Formats: sequence, structure tokens, C-alpha cells
Amino acid sequence: MKIKGLEFKKFIPASKIEEKVIELATKINKDYKNQVPVFLPILNGSFMFAADLIKEIKIPCRISFVKTSSYSGTSSTGQLKTLIGHDESLFNQDIIVIEDIVDSGLTLEKIMEELRGLGAKSVEAISLLRKTEAREKNTDVKYIGFELDAEFVVGYGLDYDGFGRNYKDIYKLADVGPEK
Ligand code: IMP
Ligand code: MG
Repeated sequence: MKIKGLEFKKFIPASKIEEKVIELATKINKDYKNQVPVFLPILNGSFMFAADLIKEIKIPCRISFVKTSSYSGTSSTGQLKTLIGHDESLFNQDIIVIEDIVDSGLTLEKIMEELRGLGAKSVEAISLLRKTEAREKNTDVKYIGFELDAEFVVGYGLDYDGFGRNYKDIYKLADVGPEK
């Protein structure tokens, strides 16, 4: 599979993702059985994961999509401006942030910090994927689907330069050349 000249190969098939989504939702249904959580999927990347996950949630809950605005080109430095679009009152609520992937962990850390500042009762996070750096830094993610190393992945909501979000499997960047 090619996106903008780069070769990607299948990495996590849709069937494995489906199984994992059910496993994660089952844990949340159990952990939050006496609460009414507010799910906050972070757009754009988490839209597919969030939709599938929330379909498996059987407890009362609310959903409010948010988007972060970062300074263009510097998102990896964690220069997050603010959370935009959360219209439900988050004060005193149990919030579950839904992310597609946590890489350096900076984006998620900023988001959780901002939510705590809004007076949420609790703030936890779920991410379909987590890379090495966030794992080593122990970024606060309560529910994790799959652990990755440094692979760059696309599909199932994740993009390369805006493309590739539409695939139902997850693909990783194929090895580029013989040199290592
Ligand atoms: P962090 O702040 O470094 O944790 O960056 C997280 C954000 O970077 C994610 O929400 C994605 O938008 C993007 N990202 C990180 N790794 C990948 C990847 O492998 N594929 C696509 N997007 C990625
Ligand atoms: Mg993202």
C-alpha cells in the first residue's frame, strides 16, 4: 500500500483491533459501573477507535468530541494551544480521554492537565496505541490497546500527512532500505 510515495505494509489486522476494542470496553464497563463517564475523543485521529469503543460501552455515558489546536509544525514539541469544542460541562465529571496514539506523551499530558484545571472529578485516558517513549516516561494512560516501538503507523483513523485514515487495518511504514 502506498501513500504519497511511501510504502506501508499491513501491521494490525481489523480482526485484532476488534478483539482489543471489546477487551478495553469490557474493562471500562466494569471499572465505571457506578459512574457516568464523559468520553472525550480527541479529533481527528481517534474518530474510528472512539466510534467502535463507544458502541461496546453499556453503562450510561456522554460523549463530546474535542480537537486540540497546536502550532503548525511543532505538535511534537507539545505546543498545544487549547482544547476546543467541549460543550458539555466537565466540572465534577469523570472524564475518559480517547486518543489514537501516544508517542512522546506531550499532547496527552497537556490535555489531561487542562481538564483537571476545569475541575473534572477524575481524568483518565485510553489510547489504542502507545509508543516506546511514552511507555518509558510512564505517561498516565490507564487503558492501552497495543504497545509499539518506533513504528510509524497509519490506518484506522491515523494518518500520514492527512491520508490513510480510511483503512480498517493498521499499516506500518515498510523498511526503507538495506542500511541500518
Ligand atoms: P505525542 O504528543 O508525541 O504523544 O503525539 C501524539 C500525536 O502524534 C498523535 O495524536 C498523532 O496525531 C501523532 N502521531 C504520533 N505517532 C504517529 C504515527 O505513528 N502515525 C500517525 N500519527 C502519529
Ligand atoms: Mg492525534
